[in-house]
Amino acid sequence: MSPKRLALRGDLVDFTADPGLDQTTGAGVRYRPDHWLLVENGVIVGAQLHEPGAGWARADHRGRLILPGFIDTHVHSAQVDVIGSWGTQLLDWLDTHTFPAETRMADPAHAAAISALFTDALLAHGTTAACVYPSVHKVSVDALFAAAQQRGMRLIGGKVLMDRNAPEAVRDDVDGAERDCHVLIETWHGQGRLAYAVTPRFAPTSTDAQLAMAGRLLASTPGLYMQTHVAENEAEVRWAAELFPQARSYLDVYARFGLLNERAVLGHGIWLDDTDRALLRDTGAQIAFCPSSNLFLGSGLFGWSAARDAGVNVSLASDVGGGTSLSMRRTMLDAYKVQALAGQKVSAFALLHAATRGAAHALRLGHEIGSFDVGATADLCIWDWARSPLAQRRQQVARDLHEKLFAWITLGDEQDLAETWVAGERRFERPAAPH
Ligand code: GUN
Ligand code: ZN
Repeated sequence: MSPKRLALRGDLVDFTADPGLDQTTGAGVRYRPDHWLLVENGVIVGAQLHEPGAGWARADHRGRLILPGFIDTHVHSAQVDVIGSWGTQLLDWLDTHTFPAETRMADPAHAAAISALFTDALLAHGTTAACVYPSVHKVSVDALFAAAQQRGMRLIGGKVLMDRNAPEAVRDDVDGAERDCHVLIETWHGQGRLAYAVTPRFAPTSTDAQLAMAGRLLASTPGLYMQTHVAENEAEVRWAAELFPQARSYLDVYARFGLLNERAVLGHGIWLDDTDRALLRDTGAQIAFCPSSNLFLGSGLFGWSAARDAGVNVSLASDVGGGTSLSMRRTMLDAYKVQALAGQKVSAFALLHAATRGAAHALRLGHEIGSFDVGATADLCIWDWARSPLAQRRQQVARDLHEKLFAWITLGDEQDLAETWVAGERRFERPAAPH
């Protein structure tokens, strides 16, 4: 069969190396204005200035920005119904809003509808890969993976484990959870672009026996991920210390049960110390920095530069529904503002890198996603540089690529996304404006 060949024209921006946290000079940035990106059978095969010849389907997006699809490393599909829930901090928010919403995921029809809505919404925000928490219910995991598979997305997820300190409707037990996880791993892990993540919600909602089971699971199958929350909120940190008095720190709880490795993704990590950061570095685990959630739930300000200086991998994440938007651009802007409060400058390059190549490498998926390297899967988004008169004006006066990209992050809205492509297939197209 002849290959399916597609060429997309636009301003290509991606990264070949880490650009640093505050450098605006463009080291590591690959900017190819008005180029054709060449895709064959869903894989990137090159980029060139001249228009490719016959045999290539062409899509001319000149004057638009083409970026790798965003990677959201921590987001809850089961929480779309609680975005913007007013007036609580983490532990209260879980009890008042979140556990009731997650209870509804036991219903297969609800789980299917929410999973479809959620994965479509990711694509409509320019996110083509994500690490996702559904709920404690097996059916919510099946629904999530099925929705992602239908859309060709690179999705990592797993059944939320919690066998204590939660209402019965969202609690499991060690044996039942272990059985469910084995079936889910067998069914979904490594199927196409899906991978399974052992997902203890956070230490306070799992017994020692369940965390030990999670550690056994993680060791049972190569390539499994681990995702959880750590050190997000001060009351939560105190609670974890009471529940696990033998652990040196909250993070150490996970270490003791064999849950930290190079495929571990830990949400938040605001209240960590130097020893914790060294442990993250040594195990290769990453922190998913969730600035929107951290601000909305009043959790605290993550120390990105301290983590970086300690050699910890840091990616960006929406943490919807603690976070208030699935947009990785809004997430980037919140990250910038959180760092600004600490007197730390973060470049547009660092923000974009963290949501593309940086996350891909931290997930050990740099060969597949996060860049336009030859051989990578063609997960990409086509964006308008500006649509409103104000944003257009700002782009006109921007003096260099960094200024353009930072203004694009700052002034953009969801309407800027023209198309999202996953593995060389168009999966989102901006609806035509009503007349
Ligand atoms: N800690 C434990 N569960 C959750 C959750 O669902 N969201 C956030 N932000 N933190 C958590
Ligand atoms: Zn979360």
